[in-house]
Amino acid sequence: MEIKEFTKKLKQKRELNDMDDSFIENRIKDYIKKNKLEKKFKIPGFSKTSAYKKMFKALRKDLREIYGVFRSKTFMENPSIKERLVYYKEIYHKIFSITGKPKKILDLGCGLNPLSYKYMDHKPYYYACDISENDLKKVREYFGRNKVKGKVFTFDLVYGDYNDLPKANVCFLFKTLEALEQIKNNISKDIIKNLDCDWIVASFSKKSLSGKRIKKAGRAWLRRLLKKLDLHYKIFDIGNEIFFVIKKE
Ligand SMILES: C[S@@+](CC[C@H](N)C(=O)[O-])C[C@H]1O[C@@H](n2cnc3c(N)ncnc32)[C@H](O)[C@@H]1O
Repeated sequence: MEIKEFTKKLKQKRELNDMDDSFIENRIKDYIKKNKLEKKFKIPGFSKTSAYKKMFKALRKDLREIYGVFRSKTFMENPSIKERLVYYKEIYHKIFSITGKPKKILDLGCGLNPLSYKYMDHKPYYYACDISENDLKKVREYFGRNKVKGKVFTFDLVYGDYNDLPKANVCFLFKTLEALEQIKNNISKDIIKNLDCDWIVASFSKKSLSGKRIKKAGRAWLRRLLKKLDLHYKIFDIGNEIFFVIKKE
């Protein structure tokens, strides 16, 4: 079987159909390697085997978990946005009172967050990237309509090369790191170390998807990591979200 064919099959699931192909392909390759299926996968008729069924189910579940649950049709319906809507002005005010007003922002795993551009009280150049083509399309439309200066592009934080990312004053990693940690352990360390920027703002939810308060809402793991990397940071809470404003330079 071809990896492309398998990808196509996975994408037939509605909640996964806007996902970037190369992201899925990389997940498939990881699965094959981890389960030593290199030979089996190539055998004609693999799609009739129980290994295929198991693989299909596991990957679909995996992709749904790391990505599918984040999808939502509109800006207002998007769970992160909905929660933040009343707080956006305060959030940006707080962030920029620490970082200063950035000329350039890089929003990684941006989702629909760039649609909150109007809540900033200045007009930075805005790089927005994600692996969701649907979200990027909406961000592109919004930028066009509102004459926001910036670039919207696909970037995969797990498999991409961080050297390809543009330099920015402030990088946003809103509600993204923990989803990435599920795919690759300690990826936060690589990301934080390698981003070319003055500040990183990482946020996390203090509530789980079911609405319950997360017990380890203070993200001790990230505090430990930042200490190890000898990076200074400030923390604030707004609504149900905790923000780490990390000084890189
Ligand atoms: C919970 S949403 C947060 C979206 C946005 N940052 C916000 O806070 O409103 C997580 C985002 O991470 C994106 N994402 C998941 N895996 C990714 C990857 N490997 N590379 C880039 N983005 C990814 C998803 O598409 C989704 O938009």
